[in-house]
Amino acid sequence: MNGLDVGIDQLGVYLPRYALPLDRLAEARGVPVEKIHVGLGAHAMAVVPPWEDAVTLGANAAARVFRHGEVRPDEIGLLVAATETAVDHAKPIGIFLHDLLGLSPSCRTFEVKHACYGGTAGIMLAADWIRSGAARGRKALVVATDIARYDVGSSAEFTQGAGAAAVVVSDEPRLLRLGPTTGLFSRNVYDFWRPLERREALVDGKFSLDCYLDALHGAVSDYRAALNGHGGGSLLDRFAAFLYHTPFPKMAHKAHRRLVEDESHGLTPAAVGERFERSWATQAEPALGLARQAGNTYTASLYLCLAWLLEREGATLEGRDLALFSYGSGCCAEFFTGRPVAGSAARAASIGAQGLLQARRELTVEEYEQFARATTGGERPAEGGVGFCHLAGIENHKRHYACPGKVA
Ligand code: HMG
Repeated sequence: MNGLDVGIDQLGVYLPRYALPLDRLAEARGVPVEKIHVGLGAHAMAVVPPWEDAVTLGANAAARVFRHGEVRPDEIGLLVAATETAVDHAKPIGIFLHDLLGLSPSCRTFEVKHACYGGTAGIMLAADWIRSGAARGRKALVVATDIARYDVGSSAEFTQGAGAAAVVVSDEPRLLRLGPTTGLFSRNVYDFWRPLERREALVDGKFSLDCYLDALHGAVSDYRAALNGHGGGSLLDRFAAFLYHTPFPKMAHKAHRRLVEDESHGLTPAAVGERFERSWATQAEPALGLARQAGNTYTASLYLCLAWLLEREGATLEGRDLALFSYGSGCCAEFFTGRPVAGSAARAASIGAQGLLQARRELTVEEYEQFARATTGGERPAEGGVGFCHLAGIENHKRHYACPGKVA
């Protein structure tokens, strides 16, 4: 096995079937709609109904990687569930997924957490497990699944969202080969956190933007240092696209601006501005279609951007390098790379990200608030479940899931 061949074999994504258009929320909260559409770059958020949780979002995403039979559940030897929306302090989300997906008992299963970085942590760990030889020909499944909740009426309420991505990592990737070099940055900061007793996250909003941008600078510097003089030159020339963890699209805009500035020493401010606008439109903005409509999906965010980009532009990206930036508050960040493999475009075209948006029903603000209250109060679902599986109920502190559906 050539360690350089490890990468993403399959990518499954899932969003809950409900969306709140943010112009409705802006009107209800007395906020100018331009602040949300232009200031944050966000248009809608995915809303999780009471009969979905991080387990069902993850299971519904993962079921999609098995639907065509190209990967079988018995091939998975490592299942990593990445979330910051755990359902229990001890019992990991991964073991529910293991059961719902019918994986083999001979499988290492656990949950990881580092805010939004958890999904990338799982993928890097899975790639190293394969490179080490411990996988013995088996594949890893990394499920990144989250619900972003802030206090009702807070400015962060507009950046809520929910969704999941399921990533199969293997030594014969049919979608994206991971580059061997990555750049890292870690630092203890209180930019965003959720104490154990709280359902809604706390955030030092403006500070969190600075932490994100500092981490980007740090991770890219570390990436350059790790290249050790090989592959110099501008990153803007080297990569066909830049994908960012996207709590809201304007954050990706700020991040790409910082990256372009860091790559443009010696140019006048006007030339840097022009360079940025050109690069933004062609190399960064095209990945954001799903994020604009789904909101922050925490661990899944970067991989929903990847799914969107590959599904829509896979044919032009085969054989060209992509740059990916993962950020988790607290904080840990990683800058890494991937190359869509020959023949990946046809596979990417059926990921189904666009279909998930089309399948959604738009909620009124009253319905959204009802959903939020129902989840808080643990009330039983008023409507039936949708998708492959849903939360059927909680009895004696035990969660029960039902899987009557077909994988859509
Ligand atoms: P805020 O107080 O609503 O916003 O907080 P603001 O006053 O800074 O305005 C936002 C933007 O709208 C500004 O643009 C304004 O100028 C503009 P900027 O100057 O930044 O380019 N604006 C307008 N534009 C057009 N027309 C108008 C108008 N008015 C204002 N009328 C904030 C915004 C993002 C801080 C808040 O929503 C928040 O706290 N969100 C949650 C935190 C967050 O997402 N942080 C991102 C970095 S940390 C991260 O990504 C990690 C995370 O995903 C968690 C994890 O790792 O698990 C969050």
